[in-house]
Amino acid sequence: PFTACTFLLLFFAALVSSTKLESMTIQHVLVPIVMEAEAKPFVEHLGLESVEGFFPPHTPFLAYQGEHHSCKVTVVTMGKDTVYGTGMDNVGTTSAALGTFLALSRSEADGNPAQLVMNAGTCGGFQRQGGGIGDVYLTTGVAHHDRRIPIPGFDVYGIGKLETLNPTTMAKTLGYKTGICTTGNSLDWVEKDDEFMKDSNASCKDMEAASIAWIAKMHDVPYLGVKVVTDIVDGPHPTQDEFLENLHSAAKSLQDALPKVLEYVTDKTGQSD
Ligand code: ADE
Repeated sequence: PFTACTFLLLFFAALVSSTKLESMTIQHVLVPIVMEAEAKPFVEHLGLESVEGFFPPHTPFLAYQGEHHSCKVTVVTMGKDTVYGTGMDNVGTTSAALGTFLALSRSEADGNPAQLVMNAGTCGGFQRQGGGIGDVYLTTGVAHHDRRIPIPGFDVYGIGKLETLNPTTMAKTLGYKTGICTTGNSLDWVEKDDEFMKDSNASCKDMEAASIAWIAKMHDVPYLGVKVVTDIVDGPHPTQDEFLENLHSAAKSLQDALPKVLEYVTDKTGQSD
């Protein structure tokens, strides 16, 4: 029977799943930004210092720390590849998950655990969702689009859908879009990926969000994705061409957005929800 107890449980479940940023006091923000070039202007803007020995030896990850509005800010990047000898940025889910895990564990060990994971970067957008190049999205949830495991139970695990921090009020205030970001380890996509992206109602496609949000969830820390569109997934141009063509302007757009989002997150004076 649908008892008062069931009702209460549902009510609290709803409360937990839609954590309101506006009700949080944040003293430490962890900002994983995978690509060095995307992180650099933000690090310089905030005057953050590089922290030697933040990550264990043998890892390629880099950390920068400082304060903003009395809030500690730790930006981590996934560094450059030395394993394959390409020297390229360590993009994709493996390094993003490991780097974020180590950074959160380190923040706990330092006695000042991060209270928000703010993952910033570029993404593909969708014409069918009204997305355009340069648009800034604050994510409402994440999922994977390339983990196909057609066995009951594992199918749901593979998709790995997570509802994340509710950014609606902030998005309205700052004039940004909101939507679900789905993650895969390829810049391009195949038909099956698109089926999964449609099923998840994706507005953004990236290569890290769902794995970073998984790690954040494991640590019980809220996740917020700040994603700028470099290419239109369902548009006429090859992704890689459009991505490279727009990377520079998208990085600029990200540089404009990130300080505003951080400002909102760390200084909520006078805001109401
Ligand atoms: N980053 C920027 N554009 C992307 C895309 N189309 N897919 C995955 N990651 C991206």
